[in-house]
Amino acid sequence: MNREIIKLSKISKKFFLNKKKISVLKSVDLKINKGELVSLNGPSGSGKSTLLHIIALLDQPTSGEVFFDRKNISRSSDAEKDKVRKKGISIVYQQNNLLTDFTALENVMMPLLNTGVSLQESLTKAKKTLSSVNLSSRIDHFPNELSGGEQQRVAVARAIITEPKLILADEPTGSLDRKTAGEIFSLFLKLKSQNRAILYATHNRDLSSKADYKLNILDGNIIKE
Ligand SMILES: Nc1ncnc2c1ncn2[C@@H]1O[C@H](COP(=O)(O)OP(=O)(O)OP(=O)(O)O)[C@@H](O)[C@H]1O
Ligand SMILES: [Mg+2]
Repeated sequence: MNREIIKLSKISKKFFLNKKKISVLKSVDLKINKGELVSLNGPSGSGKSTLLHIIALLDQPTSGEVFFDRKNISRSSDAEKDKVRKKGISIVYQQNNLLTDFTALENVMMPLLNTGVSLQESLTKAKKTLSSVNLSSRIDHFPNELSGGEQQRVAVARAIITEPKLILADEPTGSLDRKTAGEIFSLFLKLKSQNRAILYATHNRDLSSKADYKLNILDGNIIKE
């Protein structure tokens, strides 16, 4: 059985700024299977967020191809990519971009409502998901009434509520204490047991070593450890 969920083939990414070229990813080949928990490592500026955004179909590679669930989506339209993303991929951003005018509960409900789930069902599930990140007592807070770590946990809840096949997390525990980081990690383990794939960027060695395997970005290439 083919368990592949994401495949990158010869992905390169260059940025052009003020006539200067920055070659961030050179010719990256990568395959991640369902049920795999994978950490993404590399120094600041090495291209972790860039890679996650390409896998999330939010950014276009300069060259190369992206396959999701064995379908080549490199040349799909934005609308088709949106559809694939909505159904299958969630991302926890490095700067959690919660909607500031909405409460924690509303932020978490939003992705479900967007896929056509009823208000009542979205509400019930959002409460349950917020409880799984230990935020039951903060559901009516707006983002600016939450601590950094609490905001991060809301962002994680928002990413997992739709039960996507692939969860991408960019430093999801960056501002969390050890215990809370451990709790987020347990959620990842639970998702893994449900056959979902998780790719998370981190600077935390402890957390990185708990993955099934590590990916390191070095000079624009990916090395599997
Ligand atoms: N839109 C852009 N235009 C020009 N350069 C960019 C752009 N986005 C990112 N870069 C550059 O690409 C490189 C990789 O950035 P990226 O955000 O992927 O790094 P990172 O590995 O996630 O770093 P960190 O650990 O600090 O989050 C950096 O040198 C950055 O300055
Ligand atoms: Mg980054």
